[in-house]
Amino acid sequence: MITITFVTNDGKTATAPDNSNLLRVSLREKGGIPFKCGGGICGTCKCKIEDGIENTDTIKPKERKHLTEADFAAGYRMACQTFVNGDISVSWIPLADRR
Ligand code: FES
Repeated sequence: MITITFVTNDGKTATAPDNSNLLRVSLREKGGIPFKCGGGICGTCKCKIEDGIENTDTIKPKERKHLTEADFAAGYRMACQTFVNGDISVSWIPLADRR
């Protein structure tokens, strides 16, 4: 099992099986990562892997439509496109704070 820490949700933690989809865990455990489409189209689920980027899978082509190389270098991913195989911490910008 792996542990995901939802930093922006007061550091709430959830456990999940290895290789879990990050957005699915967030939905199931009320982690709070923003989303709309769940399918790699809208970009709403942009989030930052604060710790454990090495525990995420390879970047998908759909992510490259919304995120730049600088974003990836800073740890950003799209939660609906990211699978997790070890402990991570994740943060995001709340929807109310986005323009
Ligand atoms: S929720 Fe729309 S791209 Fe992830």
